[in-house]
Amino acid sequence: MTVQRATAFAPASVANVAIGFDILGFSVDALGDTVTVSRSATPGVRVLAIRGVAEDLPLEAEKNTAGRALIAMAEALKLDYGFEMEIQKGIPLSSGLGGSAASAVAAVVAANALLATPLSRIELLKFAMQGEAVASGSMHADNISPSLFGGLVLTVGIDHPRVKQIPVPDGISAVIVHPHMFVSTKQARAILSRTVNLSDFVWQTANLAGFISGCYTNDVDMIRETFQDVVIEPQRQLLIPGFAQIRGAAMHAGALGCSISGAGPTMFALCLKADAQAVRDAMVAQFAAQNLQVDDWIVAVQSEGAHVVMEA
Ligand code: HSE
Repeated sequence: MTVQRATAFAPASVANVAIGFDILGFSVDALGDTVTVSRSATPGVRVLAIRGVAEDLPLEAEKNTAGRALIAMAEALKLDYGFEMEIQKGIPLSSGLGGSAASAVAAVVAANALLATPLSRIELLKFAMQGEAVASGSMHADNISPSLFGGLVLTVGIDHPRVKQIPVPDGISAVIVHPHMFVSTKQARAILSRTVNLSDFVWQTANLAGFISGCYTNDVDMIRETFQDVVIEPQRQLLIPGFAQIRGAAMHAGALGCSISGAGPTMFALCLKADAQAVRDAMVAQFAAQNLQVDDWIVAVQSEGAHVVMEA
């Protein structure tokens, strides 16, 4: 019997991961968005309701990340039926935790369960990317891919994206600290210089290559040595009050590295499991010194990607 309604959960994500601007991200399943999609006889896509921690989002499907993703899917597949959806937001708006991506991913994963011939995840990725573009103003998959596939994920290419799930040494945890403030992704992208200085380019490529090779070879020293963004972070750190003190405190407490999650204002650190609590306490204390309240999590870098939680 054809599935008429499906609900999918898609996790939050940390994009860029310091050294992989627009191409690297990891999933954070401590929070996420849940989307229920139903088949409707009338073609087209309708967003019926948005609930949860971020209700102030467009109900107009064209302007909604989840709506736009399903419009792309329905058009590409020339479906003769429509989709209606309800979105439960678990990821705060403009937090740097990939909320717009997670809604788009949860929508395509739920809708996929309604298709007569379900698509592969790589095919779903392209539709979800079109949804994400509504929010951030450009096509990039560094939140979409980890939310969809799970774990630390590299995405190469836009029109024909290739995705690689990267192994992470077992002993590494991520500390995530979300201050209660907003940073607009569009603005955080608009302030970036269009050019990169040659020596910064060399450092950043060395750091990215070193980090990825450290992940594949379980080389924690290599990860520590290379986990530094010399291009984007220096330009964006002004958006986060106390950035230098927060990062400094995390490093002093033993973090392998600490940077901005996506476009911010959430910050994250990678550290050995044994140091995670101290790193978290140090970061939280520095945010408190800025009079910022926070939510915080200590999570594994490897986690499950989006999945269907209910079908009827
Ligand atoms: N890579 C993106 C950025 C993530 O940092 O602007 C947020 O969409």
